[in-house]
Amino acid sequence: MAVPRVKGRIAEEYLREHPGMPKQTAAKWLREKYPEVFPTLNAARKAIQNITGNNGETNRGQAVPDLKTEPGTPGDPRPKIPKGWRGHKWRPHVVKARRTLALYDLHVPFHDPRAVDVAVNYGIDRGCDHLFIGGDLCDCYSISSYTKDPRFRKGLSWELTQAREMLSQIAPHFAQRTMVPGNHEDRLPRLVSDKTPELWDLAHIGWHALLDLEKFGVTWVGDHRAVKIGKLYLLHGHEIRKAGGVNPARTLFRKIKDTAMCGHFHRTAEHSEPILKLRDRTTVDCWTVGCLMRLEGVDYDLYHDYNHGLAIIHTDADGSFSVENRKIRMGRVE
Ligand SMILES: [Fe+2]
Repeated sequence: MAVPRVKGRIAEEYLREHPGMPKQTAAKWLREKYPEVFPTLNAARKAIQNITGNNGETNRGQAVPDLKTEPGTPGDPRPKIPKGWRGHKWRPHVVKARRTLALYDLHVPFHDPRAVDVAVNYGIDRGCDHLFIGGDLCDCYSISSYTKDPRFRKGLSWELTQAREMLSQIAPHFAQRTMVPGNHEDRLPRLVSDKTPELWDLAHIGWHALLDLEKFGVTWVGDHRAVKIGKLYLLHGHEIRKAGGVNPARTLFRKIKDTAMCGHFHRTAEHSEPILKLRDRTTVDCWTVGCLMRLEGVDYDLYHDYNHGLAIIHTDADGSFSVENRKIRMGRVE
């Protein structure tokens, strides 16, 4: 009975050299390396089971004491990290446009009609072929989780009527239109998630219907991915956590580390920073754009440092671009 002893010795040697190796893997390796000793995979498996004491009670006495494992003990003690939720692969929504008018934070029905008028006409006069509405078009005051003025009894339906009226006036002047949600549009899915999570999908699909976006030819990019025009990334701004500070454009740069623009902070700001990549020196620029809501404030936001503004993005065919980040003051674009 020399062969079984040889089998056991080889298997023992291998397990000592590879502590923690799964038994099945060890059996495959033995079968491959010593086909004359282990003509079948089962033979290799049996040899391993014998020396680890996993071949039934009667053979348990043959086990090598320090290689003995309890039946069913996994061979590999190394941690197996759970894969977790893999989420989405975010890719920007790409828009090809020659000249874009970017408007942020109208907060309808708390918009400033004169500022909106000046901004839209400036874009029309500059020959913009694309309108980008960068979030917080609607204030959604009626569904805010903050304490509300009880005298405001207009309701969400009236707010949405006002927003549709706004779109009907400004959208037709541009060949292309794109819109992303801001934190105020996100009030709707948040409310649904908190109160009726079963309707979550409807809340996201709902913005198309609620604002009649198809009728106004507006592409809704509702999943918080960036919109990319040329080499510039555009966001609303609330996607970036703990942003703001003295210069919100600098904070945007610190988070994105790429050329980017957002609203949300209601302030016109710019930040340029040189980046050294090996021997190539390049400059990355970030912008935050002013808002178009009434600066007198709303009861939830009476004291602030907001300013009115707009941005024009000029894009070349190779993706290079330039930005005019303008303030609006006293009814004039500065
Ligand atoms: Fe806003």
